[in-house]
Amino acid sequence: MSVQISPSILSADFARLAEEARAVEGADWLHVDVMDNHFVPNLTLGLPVVESLRKATDTPLDCHLMIENADRWAPAYVEAGASSVTFHAEAAAAPVRVAREIRAKGARASMALRPATAIEPYEDLLPELDMLLIMTIEPGFGGQAFLDIMLPKIRRTRALIDKHGLDLWLQVDGGVSSETIERCAEAGADNFVAGTAVYGAEDPAAAVRALREQAAA
Ligand code: DX5
Ligand code: ZN
Repeated sequence: MSVQISPSILSADFARLAEEARAVEGADWLHVDVMDNHFVPNLTLGLPVVESLRKATDTPLDCHLMIENADRWAPAYVEAGASSVTFHAEAAAAPVRVAREIRAKGARASMALRPATAIEPYEDLLPELDMLLIMTIEPGFGGQAFLDIMLPKIRRTRALIDKHGLDLWLQVDGGVSSETIERCAEAGADNFVAGTAVYGAEDPAAAVRALREQAAA
């Protein structure tokens, strides 16, 4: 299981996005949090910013859509330049169709679960996905405390992935730091989003390397 780190630009300076994106070159992905002030009580950025970020960095974009009506919007984020698009299970009317559309447009399809959403009802849908995102905070804001109570869900999800022999990445997002990343890795996560832990550090690129080493240990 190889470890991937996806720094979240939510914790970056939005007035210097290009520079901030380049500050984490060497990371596997750049995590881009799209919020619509309906699915979550916060508003961030949308398609034009993703298009510009695509031109600003060679790091592939991992777009996390915290928006309603994912069915309508997800494919457009592939066109805007995302290499991976994550929609929320709670915001998609037809998750299988959304995942297929994302893949058909050439990106990795990923589905996210809020803390209170169980994985089990989605077991049969896993082959349609390239990644599953287990939120380890309530989505909406960076800098929140990691929810330890999500660890059993990470373990159960890893067991389901292995049971079906799937090549599906398991991402965690929220409160991932040097304090919590080992617990997540031990539970079976292999793709780690980190906002505050990377952009709050003096040297963001070094923070990415340190997190990767810790998760791989
Ligand atoms: C919050 C976002 C996260 C956020 C994580 O809803 O999905 O990606 O940036 O920030 P930290 O790592 O600070 O918890
Ligand atoms: Zn996110």
